[in-house]
Parts: sequence; structure tokens; C-alpha cells
Amino acid sequence: MLDDVPRIIEIYEKITGEHVDEDTINEKIEYGQCLTALGAVKDGKLVGFIIGETEQGAFGEEEAIGWINMVGLDPEYRNMGYGKALGKELLNRFHGMGIRKLRTIVEDEDYGLLNYFKSLGLQKVPWTVLELDLKQ
Ligand SMILES: CC(C)(COP(=O)(O)OP(=O)(O)OC[C@H]1O[C@@H](n2cnc3c(N)ncnc32)[C@H](O)[C@@H]1OP(=O)(O)O)[C@@H](O)C(=O)NCCC(=O)NCCS
Repeated sequence: MLDDVPRIIEIYEKITGEHVDEDTINEKIEYGQCLTALGAVKDGKLVGFIIGETEQGAFGEEEAIGWINMVGLDPEYRNMGYGKALGKELLNRFHGMGIRKLRTIVEDEDYGLLNYFKSLGLQKVPWTVLELDLKQ
């Protein structure tokens, strides 16, 4: 998977227009807590990826939670079922690891991504994500 990092970054930057540091992704893949990274390949080329991680003891919960950290399909390969196939396989992997609850965070107005996660069975929960930018 480390060999695929440059292509993952290329897809991510194509989608978001944001730069992402190669070391950040490398570190995540190498040292992530029970990380699962899957790719979709078409004609020998990586066209999409999904990265998930498990977390134990977050928010005082005892059970391990599966997090979907990143998902991205090259725009030229969307609406062909690759995203769903990647998501379903990640769910299967989490299930096989004994994970029974899955979470992710999506911007309120990112309807495409929201619909995608809903199609995998995820539902909105009454939680609010809070953030403080300590850079200033
Ligand atoms: C969301 C995304 C992963 C979907 O991948 P995809 O391969 O196009 O999706 P699929 O063809 O497998 O479709 C799966 C389901 O999602 C729904 N869906 C996908 N994109 C959608 C969109 N833009 N609007 C509404 N629904 C959408 C499909 O209708 C389908 O639902 P169904 O199974 O009930 O019919 C892809 O569009 C993507 O990478 N988006 C950008 C994600 C992003 O911003 N990543 C960076 C932050 S991590």
C-alpha cells in the first residue's frame, strides 16, 4: 500500500484541491492503530481508496469503534460502484475484526459523501463535532 501513496495523494488533491503531505499518509499507513487501507484497481491503475482505523476507549466507550478516515474515487471513475465495493469490503473487514460500530465525520453540506455513507447503512447521530484551532 505504501507504493500507492503518491497515487492516493494525487486522487485526494484532485478531489479536494488541498495539498497533503506524503509523510502524513505514510505514517498513518505504517503506524495507524489497526489500520485497514483498501484500493480499487482498474486496468492496473489505482482509481480509488478507502482508509479505516479502529479506536479503543474513545469518549469513555468500552467497545472498539471502526472509523472511516478517508475515501476517494478518481472523479473519472465515479458512479460505477467502486466506492460502494470499497466501503462494503471495509465493513466486512471491520466485522471480521469484531468491530460492531462504525463512525465517520462528514461536512453537513457534502450531500454526495453523505448519500454515499447512507448507502452503506451509516446514519446521522445526535452528536456535534467541536474544534479549536490552536495554530493562531
Ligand atoms: C463519495 C464517493 C466515494 C462515491 O464513490 P462512487 O464510486 O462514485 O460511488 P458508487 O458508484 O459506488 O455509489 C455508491 C452509492 O453512493 C451514492 N452516491 C455516490 N456519489 C453520490 C453523489 N455525488 N450524490 C448522491 N449519491 C451519491 C450512489 O447513488 C450509490 O447509492 P446506491 O448504492 O444506494 O445506489 C466518491 O464520489 C468520492 O470519492 N467523493 C469525494 C470524497 C471526498 O471528498 N474525499 C475526501 C475527503 S476523505
